[in-house]
Amino acid sequence: MDEENFVEALTEDLRTEYQSIVHYISHIATVTGAEFLSTIDELKVRVTQELQHAQILVEPIAFLGGTPATTLPQVNAATGRDALAADLRLEEVSLSDTGKTIGRSHGPGTGRRGRGPASSP
Ligand SMILES: [Fe+2]
Repeated sequence: MDEENFVEALTEDLRTEYQSIVHYISHIATVTGAEFLSTIDELKVRVTQELQHAQILVEPIAFLGGTPATTLPQVNAATGRDALAADLRLEEVSLSDTGKTIGRSHGPGTGRRGRGPASSP
């Protein structure tokens, strides 16, 4: 994977993190019922984690000369078990995509070049 494709893959991962944040924020407010209380608490933790993931992703994107995304994929409104099922599907996609991106980062053609200190002579 060349550097440009790597930045694009990181950018897609970043958009998915944004999507997860919006999913969780929405579902914390719309999923109600005593049976979901512990799940809501877990979603609150996940929001913080997804924000940290997004912050981690923007650094290499910028370092490699890319522009961190400011848009995200469509978030569909859902409530109850449908919302939680959507959250689970998105988390699975996010984990899979990020794992692929990290795997590609160790392939040929991903040497460091960019604006950061590693590109200095
Ligand atoms: Fe994440």
